[in-house]
Amino acid sequence: MDISISKVEKSRISEFDKSNIKFGKLYADHMLVADYEDGQWQTPSIIPFGNITMSPAISSIHYGQSIFEGIKAYKNHKGEVSIFRPSENFKRFNISAKRMAMPEIPSSIFIDGMKKLIDLDSAWVPDIEGASLYIRPFMFATDEFIGIRPAGKFRFMIINSPAGAYYNQPAKIFVQSNYVRAFKGGTGFAKAAGNYAAAMLPLMELKEKGYDQNLWMDGVHHKYIHEIGTMNVLFVIGNKVVTPDLSEGTILAGITRDSVLTLLREKGVTVEERPVTIDEVKEAYLNGELKEAFGAGTAAVIAPIEELFYDGLSMTLPPLDQWEISNWVAKRLADIRYGNIEDTHHWMEGIK
Ligand code: COI
Repeated sequence: MDISISKVEKSRISEFDKSNIKFGKLYADHMLVADYEDGQWQTPSIIPFGNITMSPAISSIHYGQSIFEGIKAYKNHKGEVSIFRPSENFKRFNISAKRMAMPEIPSSIFIDGMKKLIDLDSAWVPDIEGASLYIRPFMFATDEFIGIRPAGKFRFMIINSPAGAYYNQPAKIFVQSNYVRAFKGGTGFAKAAGNYAAAMLPLMELKEKGYDQNLWMDGVHHKYIHEIGTMNVLFVIGNKVVTPDLSEGTILAGITRDSVLTLLREKGVTVEERPVTIDEVKEAYLNGELKEAFGAGTAAVIAPIEELFYDGLSMTLPPLDQWEISNWVAKRLADIRYGNIEDTHHWMEGIK
């Protein structure tokens, strides 16, 4: 598919301070826009990053037909830019689209458009280990209609933002038993904007208590662990890695999660993907068997958990320098992403 390109007159790259990269504060010069109308995707365009004008009646504002993805691009020591597993995000985006009654996007827009956009803005991909370009594809309904019905018009966009660490310190996690995120038949597996909207009040409440994120439980029994608000969760219990399985469709199928499990299995670590209850984690903690707990996500990467607060019990994890498994996997992933070791899985996709 052709993509029309209109470049900025003057780049904003001088605003990009590589010595102080925050998450999600600054956006690269260009963005990609593609509209879906009359049952088909129209020619996409790459244009200067900027505000968009929309009718106040567009249905995504009112009813939340909106989905997104998170992907990262890295620059290796030779200055080459590549994207981590974008085809997996492409597949997941279309799975989310289906659940939310939105049209699938072709790879000629999602993947080829992303590569073109990043090639144009490659100066915005940091060449520093620990930093990357965070890629945010998203789609929202643009029908101007306040009645309830699945929309027929949509906009797909990609914006990019240089990104440093999402969590600057080990995370303090609040095990959420008052509110729920997902249940069988719901939208838990989709990267739907509404999943995050519903988490804002619980997040506000736990932040007041000094915690960083929710650890969600299942919506029926309130005891099976699902995921953390920004990432999947893994526990090292004894010498095994244990993480909730995806079979109920209530948990986001994380691409970092999948990469971590692949690398651990390759190393010979026993990995169990199965239902995990909070009581099992609590018991492991009380027996001294809970060695490590960490999140895995695109934005968060590998995020160690310092504390899990559950039902009046503060479970404090052992000091980080004693952690072996998550430190190993974090380094291994970074080495693949920054080109320090061979990418035997072909996870890095060049942009050319
Ligand atoms: C990501 O990790 O890419 C996400 O979408 C999570 C979001 C909370 C930043």
